[in-house]
Amino acid sequence: MMKTVLVTGASSGFGKAICQKLIADGYKVIGSARRIEKLNEMAVQLGDNFLPLLLDVTKKDAVENLLIGIPTDFKPIDILINNAGLALGMEPAYEAHYDDWEMMVQTNIIGLMHITRTILPTMVERNCGYIINLGSTAGSYAYKGGNVYGATKAFVKQFSANLRTDLLGKKIRVTNIEPGLCGDTEFSNIRFHGDNKKAANVYQGVEYIKPEDIANTVSWLVNTPEHFNVNSIEIMPTAQASGGLAVVKDMN
Ligand SMILES: NC(=O)c1ccc[n+]([C@@H]2O[C@H](COP(=O)([O-])OP(=O)(O)OC[C@H]3O[C@@H](n4cnc5c(N)ncnc54)[C@H](OP(=O)(O)O)[C@@H]3O)[C@@H](O)[C@H]2O)c1
Repeated sequence: MMKTVLVTGASSGFGKAICQKLIADGYKVIGSARRIEKLNEMAVQLGDNFLPLLLDVTKKDAVENLLIGIPTDFKPIDILINNAGLALGMEPAYEAHYDDWEMMVQTNIIGLMHITRTILPTMVERNCGYIINLGSTAGSYAYKGGNVYGATKAFVKQFSANLRTDLLGKKIRVTNIEPGLCGDTEFSNIRFHGDNKKAANVYQGVEYIKPEDIANTVSWLVNTPEHFNVNSIEIMPTAQASGGLAVVKDMN
């Protein structure tokens, strides 16, 4: 029996690469996002084992009813990849746009909660399943302008750990993938509200992690044996490390 994977945020970046890799690995994949036209383009290339699904993770009713719209040959969902997410803005907290903060919380925290609360009971019922969350190094290490984005990813990190605790005794695995700087996605273009020059500058002269690296990591994780749980996996480009603590002298 082919296993079925639901990937949120499948229309670009990591999500798209994960769909491509898992289809190549022989899974059935439901790719969900708001931009259905991008998913439909992917479907032409990926074939019948790929199901495009229009889904905004911030819409609670739509998420709660998502299983109703999925054909039986794409059910049950064996693996959930909570990848949909975004950063908005990089201003210091005292200048950040409150709408950006709300949107990050709605997507990265509440959206992830909606999907997890919808799919997890179906896994518990069958006593099998795997949830992979896309956290970030921003959930562990503070950086300037990371304020609410980093805090949402700290939620994802702790929620993943707490899920493991609730699921102890059940054959359901949970992993939090925590990437550092990754390029070739729309992440920075979205963060800087379409200022593509500013976005490109983030990756200038850096050998960054690529979506395929994350997709290969997911492919490895889902193929590990069922008795084996990777709780979290932190990945950075070799060209990146945490900056240590800062001190300012002679402050006025
Ligand atoms: N790139 C990095 O450096 C990096 C590092 C660490 C962690 N991450 C995390 O990795 C994940 C993927 O990021 P990425 O770099 O691949 O960015 P990306 O290219 O911008 O992809 C983000 C995806 O999320 C989807 N999405 C956003 N809001 C959504 C919503 N409300 N409902 C459903 N889907 C939504 C987008 O699709 P639609 O717009 O079509 O809905 C898109 O497919 C995110 O959770 C991000 O925080 C990224």
